[in-house]
Amino acid sequence: QVSVHQQVNPYKLVETELANLYVEIKQEVITSKHELREIAEYYFDGKGKGFRPMLVMLASKALNFHKTEEEKLLNSQRRVAMIAEMIHTASLIHDDVIDESYIRRGKSSVNNIWKERKAILAGNYLLSVASMALSRIGNKDVVKVLSQTLEDLVRGEFMQLGSKEDENERFKHYFTKTFKKTASLMANSCKALVDDILDFTSCDNVMGKPTAADLSLGLATAPVLFASQEFPELHSMIMRRFRQEGDVERARELVAKSDGVSHTRLMAEQHCKEAVRLLQTLKSSESRRAMECIAYLVLNRQN
Ligand code: FPP
Ligand code: MG
Ligand code: MG
Repeated sequence: QVSVHQQVNPYKLVETELANLYVEIKQEVITSKHELREIAEYYFDGKGKGFRPMLVMLASKALNFHKTEEEKLLNSQRRVAMIAEMIHTASLIHDDVIDESYIRRGKSSVNNIWKERKAILAGNYLLSVASMALSRIGNKDVVKVLSQTLEDLVRGEFMQLGSKEDENERFKHYFTKTFKKTASLMANSCKALVDDILDFTSCDNVMGKPTAADLSLGLATAPVLFASQEFPELHSMIMRRFRQEGDVERARELVAKSDGVSHTRLMAEQHCKEAVRLLQTLKSSESRRAMECIAYLVLNRQN
C-alpha cells in the first residue's frame, strides 16, 4: 500500500516534457494539405490526459535512475512517448468510426465533424507520421516492440467483434482482448478494467465520451461476465450480442442487481497490487514512486 506521505503527482514530474511533447507532435504533422493537418492536430490540444506518454516518461526515468542514478530523459525516450501518443490518437480516431461515437474528450469527435472517410484517412496519416518518427530513432528493437503494439491494437479490436460460445472461455477472451487493445500500448491492464466499470457507473459529461455504450456495441465486459454467473439468463444475451429488443436495458438491470461491478473492482485491485509488486524490483526513485501512485490513481479515477 502507498502511504499518504509518499504520494506524488505523477503528471507534475513530467509536466514540462509533456507540454513540449504536443508542440513536437504538431511539428511532425506538418503537411501541405491544410485540412489533413487540421484533422491530424485536432486532439493534440493539450486537453487529453496524456496518460501514455506520461507513463513512458516515468518508466524511462525510473529505469534511467535504476541504471545510472540519473533520471533525465533521453531524446529517444521522448520520441517513444510521442509515438505512443500518436498511435493512441490514431486508434481513437478509428475507434469512434467503428463505434459510431460522436463525442471524444468532451468535444465533437473527428468523424462527427469531418465524416468517416476523412477520419479514416487522418488516422492512417497519423500512423504514417508515427512510423517516420519511429524509423528515425533507428533502433531495430524499438521498431519491433512498437510495431507489435500496432498489431495488438488491430487484433484486440478484431477480437471484440466476436463472441465466445463456450462460457468458460469468455474471461480468457476478454483478458486477451483487453491486453491487446489497451495494455499492450501502455502496459497497464488495470486501466482498461476500470474503464469498463465506468461505462456502467459514470456519465457522459464526466467522461467526455458516451457511457453506457458497451452493451449497445454488443460487448460483454467484465461486469457483465461476472453478473452472468449470478444471472444465467445473460448468457444468451451475450451470445446474441444484446441485439434483441430490450436486451440492453435488461442486461443493465441485471448488472446493477449483481456483484459484477464490485467483482470487477476487486480484480482491478489485484492487478494493481501485482503492478506495484513488480515496480519494487527497481531502485527506489521519485519516478518509481509516481508509478506506484498511478496504480492506485487509475483504480479511483472518475474519467
Ligand atoms: C478504445 O476502446 C479503442 C482502443 C483502445 C483501440 C482501438 C483500435 C483500433 C480501432 C484498431 C486500429 C488501430 C490503429 C493503430 C489505427 P473503446 O471503444 O472501448 O473505448 P472508448 O470508450 O474510449 O471509445
Ligand atoms: Mg469506442
Ligand atoms: Mg471501441
